[in-house]
Amino acid sequence: MSEPNWEMLNNRATAAEKEIALIKQKIEWLHQNITTDTSQSIPDANKEEFERLQQENIKLKHRIAILTRTIEAQRGKASAMSNTPQSNTISINNTLWDIFHRAITAAYPNVLNPRVIVTTSNNPKFGDYQCNNAMPLAQELSSSGTKVLPRNVANNIMSKLEESPLIDKYEVAGAGFINIYLKRDFGQLILSNWLKTGEVLPPYVEKKRVIVDFSSPNIAKEMHVGHLRSTIIGDSISRLLEYLGHDVLRLNHIGDWGTQFGMLIAHLQDKFPNYSTVAPPIQDLQAFYKESKIRFDSDEEFKKRAYECVVKLQAFEPDIIKAWKMICDVSRQEFEKVYTRLDIKLVERGESFYQKRMELIVKELESRNLLEEDNGRKVMWGEKRGSGIPLTIIKSDGGFTYDTSDMAAIKQRIEEENADWVIYVTDAGQSLHFQMLESCAQKAGILRSYHRMDHVGFGVVLGEDKKKFKTRSGDTVKLIELLDEGLKRTLEKLKEKGRDKVLSEEDLKAAQESVTYGCIKYADLSHNRNHEYVFSFDKMLEDKGNTAVYLLYALTRIRSIARTAKVTQDELRRHARDTPISLEHEKEWKLAKVLLKFPDIILDISENMYLHPLCEFCYEISCAFTEFYDKCYCVEKNQAGEIVKVHMGRLLLTEATAIVLEKCFVLLGLKPVSRM
Ligand code: ARG
Repeated sequence: MSEPNWEMLNNRATAAEKEIALIKQKIEWLHQNITTDTSQSIPDANKEEFERLQQENIKLKHRIAILTRTIEAQRGKASAMSNTPQSNTISINNTLWDIFHRAITAAYPNVLNPRVIVTTSNNPKFGDYQCNNAMPLAQELSSSGTKVLPRNVANNIMSKLEESPLIDKYEVAGAGFINIYLKRDFGQLILSNWLKTGEVLPPYVEKKRVIVDFSSPNIAKEMHVGHLRSTIIGDSISRLLEYLGHDVLRLNHIGDWGTQFGMLIAHLQDKFPNYSTVAPPIQDLQAFYKESKIRFDSDEEFKKRAYECVVKLQAFEPDIIKAWKMICDVSRQEFEKVYTRLDIKLVERGESFYQKRMELIVKELESRNLLEEDNGRKVMWGEKRGSGIPLTIIKSDGGFTYDTSDMAAIKQRIEEENADWVIYVTDAGQSLHFQMLESCAQKAGILRSYHRMDHVGFGVVLGEDKKKFKTRSGDTVKLIELLDEGLKRTLEKLKEKGRDKVLSEEDLKAAQESVTYGCIKYADLSHNRNHEYVFSFDKMLEDKGNTAVYLLYALTRIRSIARTAKVTQDELRRHARDTPISLEHEKEWKLAKVLLKFPDIILDISENMYLHPLCEFCYEISCAFTEFYDKCYCVEKNQAGEIVKVHMGRLLLTEATAIVLEKCFVLLGLKPVSRM
């Protein structure tokens, strides 16, 4: 295969993408121009125009479908071409996509850019992967007048399939399925590359500048379990994108600005008049917030002063800024404790950062007539006026809002940070806000067709009683207390198992922390993020099933096999150069095929931002490993317990398993320990 011409492929994909964006705009425009209420009679003069537009609409839709497929084809080709058997990481899906795309196109040249349907097979009887294109193709051909049986279509595609270093054989089965069998040589080659390098290199993707906005709690308010979810999911997404080689900026968009600061500062001035020289001893900022709120609601004079403070704050008056900083610091210290424990890295860039930029963007939007008057407020609609809730850009009292800061922030991120891709991780309750933001940013010309924006939403956290997550007394749960509770429960479990008797104090502590924080993260990530999720220490700390505890144990067990055989990791790497990995036994080959799916799992996540398949994958690995280990001896001992034989090819397979599992753990934010 000749070297792909990257630049050309990329240019073509970008050109196609731009064309799509233009067409989409055109369609959108058409939608707006064709009257939506067809029950109203259309004046005769417009009827012809209406029909013409409708016709054009149909044509455009058809064109969109073709263009979308062209893009898919370009992308498929590009990624498949990056796969040479020599490389460390191969996307099997992309390679099969490419092989089948070529075969189908050769078999049916009149079918333009067919949608290739290749899936993994879940029954070994039907191969390792399957191509299911024959049925829909037969249907398509029949409807255009050529009656043909799916099985014949499958045979025709089969006759055009090229040889590939990945594929052992293809076969047509049933009504017209094509079963695909992978080659063991290929598996051996890839796994031994992983062993030699000591890691799985990431699959190829085009590198992007990505901003991940996550965690983002609010000053003086509780950092609650919702923020914990955002923190865990956002961190894992960032880890994955960093692994793929993207240039990732992790931003903590803290709620550190707005009118509530007026009352907080006014209250601070009264309670701690010398705050500018002595740091005010506020431990409980929430109680402080409540006190000031009571005064704000009942004392007119105080309210007036609070408003004045807001004005002074927004004008950056030094004394007021000092008070504001003190208040923010109290919260910041609390947040930091959580981040340190969970090993989360974030750059703080709160709403206050955008004050000047909010003023600028408001001017810009006004001068471009993008704002509308609405009961004293100024609002902005997205591309589709009238659907959803518009952004409130200026409140009736002249102040800015959450929406204003998000408009300013997206502009700053795209234009100053040069982001290609912006990701927001918040509860699903904000999804309409982000849809409107995206639409407004497009309308304002900030987001272009080549930018990508994702709102990664998630469901609410429930207590074991399936009600909103609260303490027994009905208060919101403080995150630090929650983490402490987790540590306590884990230690009890470890002691129950007598681990405190065998582990050193240091190892015990490492295991306790790894398990606690690991299980909290894993419980969150292993659920489909859209769903509600029940927070239960009992469930997360179970050592059976798809839990962090089970998997952390699995990895230490896998790693201990080589230790029993007295083979070090370095030695394994050296052996990998000349000893073939054993893939003869059915269970060995089954395990290897699971491991080989890793690049595709990663690529899928970077497309759809769902992390639970990565957790399912970890579990699948450990199940396949157990099956393998049950049937295949790695180390044989005599009755005296002395080692009589080390099966190096199998030991290599255990190490390859450990390498993949460990990589998954890193991406999920779990910290494996050597003993637990
Ligand atoms: N502070 C917000 C909250 O607690 C989340 C901010 C998310 N990021 C953003 N750019 N709007 O819900």
